[in-house]
Amino acid sequence: MTNIKKFSVIFVGLLVLSLIFTACGQQPTPAPASSDSSEEAAEADTGAAAETEAEAPAQDKFLIGMSQANKGEPWRQAMNDQIAAAAAEHPELEVVFADAAQDNAKQVADVENFIQQGIDLLIISPNEAAPLTDVVAKAYDGGIPVIVLDRKVNGDKYTMWIGADNQLIGRTAGERVAAWCKEQGHSPCNVIEIRGLEGSTPAKERGDGFREGIASNPDVTIIASQNADWLREKAIPVSQAMFQANPDVHVVYTHNDPMTEAAIISAEAAGLNLDDMFFVGIDALPTPDGGIRSVIDGRIDATYVYPTGGAEAIDYAIQILEDGATPDKEVILDTQEVTSDNAKEIYAQFGGQ
Ligand code: FRU
Repeated sequence: MTNIKKFSVIFVGLLVLSLIFTACGQQPTPAPASSDSSEEAAEADTGAAAETEAEAPAQDKFLIGMSQANKGEPWRQAMNDQIAAAAAEHPELEVVFADAAQDNAKQVADVENFIQQGIDLLIISPNEAAPLTDVVAKAYDGGIPVIVLDRKVNGDKYTMWIGADNQLIGRTAGERVAAWCKEQGHSPCNVIEIRGLEGSTPAKERGDGFREGIASNPDVTIIASQNADWLREKAIPVSQAMFQANPDVHVVYTHNDPMTEAAIISAEAAGLNLDDMFFVGIDALPTPDGGIRSVIDGRIDATYVYPTGGAEAIDYAIQILEDGATPDKEVILDTQEVTSDNAKEIYAQFGGQ
């Protein structure tokens, strides 16, 4: 007999045996609690599994891939910490983290790796929208639920997006600046803007919203706008050059607090009178070097709570994975304005130490 024939005989023999067991009402052996996907696949191959599908044990372990745009930024580290803390409450969840270090190609590769690993759900905070759209769609089309956090992707090929309303934050900041300029009687009231990474959606929304907010006071003029990619270390030379070219500046609007802190350092170095200026940031992390503390210490004048959504992402992941829920496509998180009037209270409210 050739090898092929021998295998055929054995295969047919096994098939007949399995049919006999099935006819005798034998149950398939339940998968062990720690069954991995290959064991489940082997079980699914037997005819018996199909008949007893309703009694098959529910999946009791879930692997979540968390693709972070850039862990090097404090706000993103806070997001990862919140995800890890929330997941620790659910022993059935395992979260693997990947850090793209602000590199779109690396983040695409990170998501591809997660798909290969067989994750049950993807959480992603994309570095920039356009370059990450296709790989997110690939995961989603492949049947992996996808929760997008804070920054968006294009299109609608993801399960849900969770984040705060960046346009609203920008608009509220603009209204606050318009009011301050009026109180100070500055006409014109000169603003410089330091923006976040251009291809990331919050940068556009925070910029557009701010322009809507200042429109109520025609004296407010944006005299310069530059990009520092969300990064404190880039915002130092950028703001230095901006103050050199525009020493007559009243307001500094930056798209996040680390860039505000950089602008404050440059303004001091340039010999500007900080007491006559208004510094506005966004994030308001309740940490010793975060934005709320900076307001308490009288450096930043206004900042806006920008929740990371980490804990919410895990809550929704549980609902999707364990309850088969279909959540709303968009979940908008609350924000709050932080000024010297309420900074201490908000710091305490968020458990800041
Ligand atoms: C960190 C960060 C935050 C900001 C958010 C916007 O990368 O820049 O400071 O609020 O991303 O996506």
